[in-house]
Amino acid sequence: MGAAAAVELTGFVMGAEEAERAAAAAGVASVKDLLPLLVPSAMKRARVPISRFPVGAVGLGASGRVYVGVNLEFAGVPLSQSVHAEQFLVANAAAAGERALRAVAVSHMPCGHCRQFLQEIRGAAGISILVTSDAAGEGRTPEWRTVASLLLRPFGPHDLLPENVPLVLETHDNPLGDLTAAPAVANGFAAGGGDLEARLKEAAAAAARGSHAPYSECPSGFAVADGDGRIYAGGCLESAAYNPTLGPVQTAIIAMVAAGGGPVEDVEAAALVEKEGAAVAQEAMGRIFLDAVAPRASFLVYKYKPSDA
Ligand code: THU
Ligand code: ZN
Repeated sequence: MGAAAAVELTGFVMGAEEAERAAAAAGVASVKDLLPLLVPSAMKRARVPISRFPVGAVGLGASGRVYVGVNLEFAGVPLSQSVHAEQFLVANAAAAGERALRAVAVSHMPCGHCRQFLQEIRGAAGISILVTSDAAGEGRTPEWRTVASLLLRPFGPHDLLPENVPLVLETHDNPLGDLTAAPAVANGFAAGGGDLEARLKEAAAAAARGSHAPYSECPSGFAVADGDGRIYAGGCLESAAYNPTLGPVQTAIIAMVAAGGGPVEDVEAAALVEKEGAAVAQEAMGRIFLDAVAPRASFLVYKYKPSDA
């Protein structure tokens, strides 16, 4: 590959044919070789009020689609709630129904948490990684390497789960049972009922059904609405090592950013769906997050009974 020029992105997902066309136009041999050319454009979409250190990641799915990830930081919230570019990419691919990830080009060397988070993907060891800042200044072209080479002897899902349990990019349809009729209302005022409230509840419930919670068995989903009534939702994406887990608040914000929405301060109403008496509960984190970034937002919490109750 020669010194091909950077290519501008138009969104956070690129269709397979669009990606093929962009690769041809850029003069590279394959969509895989296009990925590093998209990284500078991805980096511009990072939201980094704390570090001012934008990270961009661009991945190729088995479907041929291309997914973008950026890092997200939230002023006023603990650092542990930050989203890494690689995590954003996986959440973005999962939300689009992508079944496998083939290759990822990323601006900086993936950290330990990200190497661990990638283990939630079946076949993670064989995913190709290229770090665009690698060998910078030495005049060499960065090389593809495998995730296996970055994380030797990994701890992963199958240290805790049987082989056949769905992993993060596989189909999830968690049974929720009935949602309690009366939601808890926080932050001073109710959303006023009606259509928006019903849509938020349904979006949060759908996200909880699709969430990846095999370790806690506490599926959860979060939905946010902006001032124009647009709704974005996400479910928790757990990690076998627990701490790299993305909570439902984070994945809802990922969905908002990926759809071109935001800023996060625009959130006017939010809803959480989670298990009653959950061993891993999200309500308090949802409140902390909203208090910090969108303190006027209404917050409705719906609980479902454990399905074996
Ligand atoms: N960051 C990533 O997005 N990926 C990595 O693996 C390295 C670190 C982000 C997290 C934080 O927003 C900033 O870079 C500084 O650590
Ligand atoms: Zn990381």
